Amino acid sequence: MGLFDDVQARSLAKPEIFWAEAASEIDWYKPYTKVLDGSDAPFYRWFSGGELNTCYNALDRHVEQGRGEQTALIYDSPVTDTKENITYSDLLKRVAKFAGSLAQLGVAKGDRVIIYMPMIPEAAVAMLACARLGAVHSVVFGGFAANELATRIDDCSPKVIVSASCGIEVSKVIPYKPLLDEAIDLSTHKPDHCVIWQRPQIEASMTAERDVDWAEIEGQASAVDCVPVAATDPLYILYTSGTTGQPKGIVRDNGGHAVALHWSMKNIYNVEPGEVFWGASDVGWVVGHSYIVYGPLIYGATSVMYEGKPVGTPDPGAFWRVISEHNVSVLFTAPTAFRAIRQQDPDASYLDKYDLSCFRTLFLAGERCDPDTLNWALDKLKVPVIDHWWQTETGWPIASNCLGIEELPIVAGSPARSVPGWDVRILDADDHSEMPAGDIGAIVCKLPLPPGTFSTLWNAKERHRQAYLTGFPGYYETGDAGYKDENGYIYVMSRTDDIINVAGHRLSTGAMEEVLAAHEDVAECAVIGVADKLKGQLPLGFMVLKAGAQKSHSDVVAEVVQKVRHDIGPVAAFKLAVVVGRLPKTRSGKILRATMRKIADSEDFKVPATIDDPVILDEIRVALQSIGYGNT
Ligand code: COA
Ligand code: AMP
Repeated sequence: MGLFDDVQARSLAKPEIFWAEAASEIDWYKPYTKVLDGSDAPFYRWFSGGELNTCYNALDRHVEQGRGEQTALIYDSPVTDTKENITYSDLLKRVAKFAGSLAQLGVAKGDRVIIYMPMIPEAAVAMLACARLGAVHSVVFGGFAANELATRIDDCSPKVIVSASCGIEVSKVIPYKPLLDEAIDLSTHKPDHCVIWQRPQIEASMTAERDVDWAEIEGQASAVDCVPVAATDPLYILYTSGTTGQPKGIVRDNGGHAVALHWSMKNIYNVEPGEVFWGASDVGWVVGHSYIVYGPLIYGATSVMYEGKPVGTPDPGAFWRVISEHNVSVLFTAPTAFRAIRQQDPDASYLDKYDLSCFRTLFLAGERCDPDTLNWALDKLKVPVIDHWWQTETGWPIASNCLGIEELPIVAGSPARSVPGWDVRILDADDHSEMPAGDIGAIVCKLPLPPGTFSTLWNAKERHRQAYLTGFPGYYETGDAGYKDENGYIYVMSRTDDIINVAGHRLSTGAMEEVLAAHEDVAECAVIGVADKLKGQLPLGFMVLKAGAQKSHSDVVAEVVQKVRHDIGPVAAFKLAVVVGRLPKTRSGKILRATMRKIADSEDFKVPATIDDPVILDEIRVALQSIGYGNT
């Protein structure tokens, strides 16, 4: 038995001892009374009775322990030609002052604050300031539309919204403030105030009484201290796609989160405090929460905040430049970023321009990593390339090669073994028996989950139970399907629900169907995810029009494309749709989305025995061929 097996076995045999040891790395105001509290099983809580402050653990303690002059955050923004190194002392000062500003606006422990920001240091400042006050932040990704923001405003009823005048997408300046104003018009709940960070590219117009200029209020505020919160109190809500248009508000606690992230920095990523860790994602996603802001800072590392793309800002050497300029040891991004680089620079010739001797490991997650991309990265970078698997719900990896414990062989196509603390099983969907090695089933995790995963869904405990805990009693249902091989390596193959993954972004086809169905001429519709060389998957819509619909098919397609962009946002990347005469269904009326996807991807498939009318599949194939899919 190797070291990894040993740690894994210990974590599962005695989870309370294992995680209590990890918890000693966190500073507590008041020690917890129970490591694992199962009194409300199947909902578990970690470190109950304990009190801490996440911001204290991320900033103050490092300054107190002599890390004040170390860089905490490197802001690198090729789109504005800015680079800034912010030390732990400076970040602490900015956070404490901004927390004072929020407090002046009435924000206190337990209040919600929405943060709708581009990738600028102020986004991290706002998150940490909320944590400092014990307020609960909810960051909304900038690529979502006003309507999505409104849904989140209504669900978490923020006292204050923090935003910026604009984001910058390569060379396009995206005004944020009109979207924010539209969202507040659409929402039923109204925030008391909006704090706006004015960027020089666009000055946002302000609504009197409600809107406050960040710089002005910060100028008047005094720094405030950390507010102790219960380990089980929420640190943040992060909305993620569910199967309907109503997103799920993932709630993360303070105590378990701090413990798990600190543990992961060493044991999974093998980083040392003081080293540079770069999570090339966005603060709007879970990767940005865990591995741009909280993980690296709680651990005392230096984190990179990059406002740019892997290609186009200005070229496919962008990532290599950031690594070499900022001495990055570990990079974490989505496979799609590497597919984009490879597409533009197949020989990786840009690598020759930079000295990457500082670079130790590449971690990839967010979507299935195709072996071709992993092998290309291994071949070009000549460092371990680690595929690892996790979800917004879990907050940190479920399966990974844990480099800080023991490097296991890299097997392309697999995110390796379940991480200590996680008991991952592959179960038969019907009888819940364990599948033999090599056979695909539902991927589930035995309860209780380790610390740091979601404690509940905001305002929706019953949805939490229904969506995750009832399908396989005693287990957390991940919604992913896959298998384990005889060495215990996990292979995550597909989702068991209607979620798709576009450029590492998790999207709900159900939410897109709701937008299509609302078009006046659409009688019924279905949206599926088709394979895409760059983004992994792309959404594709099928529409049956109402009898007597007057508009041309191309007009309807153009209108729904525009409507999804308007209602959900550009991040949905919804550009493909086709009008069909009928949708294929089972005799009981269930739309055969999986079969349509196989036709679109030119995969072999069996005609489902329960199909109502198999001829419709030929009609679907012809329609798909008209837009360049389903060609075999
Ligand atoms: N604010 C406003 N708009 C945004 C946005 C933001 N924060 N993020 C993305 N968008 C827009 C894009 O500009 C694009 O708009 P367009 O239709 O006008 O071109 C649209 O949303 C789709 O974005 P995306 O799917 O990301 O495509 P892209 O062509 O802009 O970039 C990649 C493709 C692969 C380069 C990019 O997705 C990427 O770098 N991904 C890897 C990192 C990552 O995001 N990881 C997330 C999980 S770890
Ligand atoms: P998100 O919640 O946005 O992080 O998306 C989580 C989903 O992305 C998972 O449920 C998987 O479907 C997919 N995913 C993430 N990482 C991987 C991976 N390494 N391999 C396969 N799928 C992954």
